[in-house]
Amino acid sequence: MKLLEERIRKDGVIKPGNVLKVDSFLNHQMDVELFDAMGAEFKRLFAENPINKILTIEASGIGIACVVAQHFHVPVVFAKKSQSINLDGESYITKVESFTHKRTYDVIVSKKYLNPEDHILIIDDFLANGCAVNGLIDLIRSAGATVEGVGIAIEKGFQEGGRLIREKGIHVESLAIVESMNDETGEIVFRS
Ligand code: G4P
Ligand code: NA
Ligand code: NA
Repeated sequence: MKLLEERIRKDGVIKPGNVLKVDSFLNHQMDVELFDAMGAEFKRLFAENPINKILTIEASGIGIACVVAQHFHVPVVFAKKSQSINLDGESYITKVESFTHKRTYDVIVSKKYLNPEDHILIIDDFLANGCAVNGLIDLIRSAGATVEGVGIAIEKGFQEGGRLIREKGIHVESLAIVESMNDETGEIVFRS
């Protein structure tokens, strides 16, 4: 999506360790009009999929997912990150490893909000190693629901998450795929 690529070039900041900071329009301050254009694009890309629910993960997926959901006219459920496992049997639970934060956390969704008849679009801001998205896929499958696809704002194409999820036969659409970036020159290359 040209609009998002241009915005990343203009306002993204490349940090050492292959980290792309997009705090001015996506991860801290949020450009809701950009999110709206992203929502329209996801609607076009997933037009053939019978989506009745969007699933994301807190925190930074929520804002995008809400605006995207207005294009699909469906509710948004966000998975919660939890420190302590809730073993009451009322929730689906999976473990997610964060390479960036070097820790593992539990991710939960109430059984009330994921059902076998659901056809779900996963939305998230970043796809890196794919740990977060794989956790969400795991929760959806625990519920016996269907993964219709994965919609990502920014995929880091040099990390393995996108490849691994596509290899499972899942329809993944990333609006900008960063092929490489250089924190010294500021150069950024997108997959075409
Ligand atoms: P993964 O889920 O794709 O495997 O990502 P990873 O564990 O590597 O990253 C952990 C967190 O960092 C995720 O957010 C992910 O979205 C985010 N992230 C990964 N690479 C980048 C990057 O280059 N730039 C930015 N801005 N974020 C990146 P999270 O821990 O789920 O936290 P939250 O911010 O959604 O609360
Ligand atoms: Na995220
Ligand atoms: Na994030």
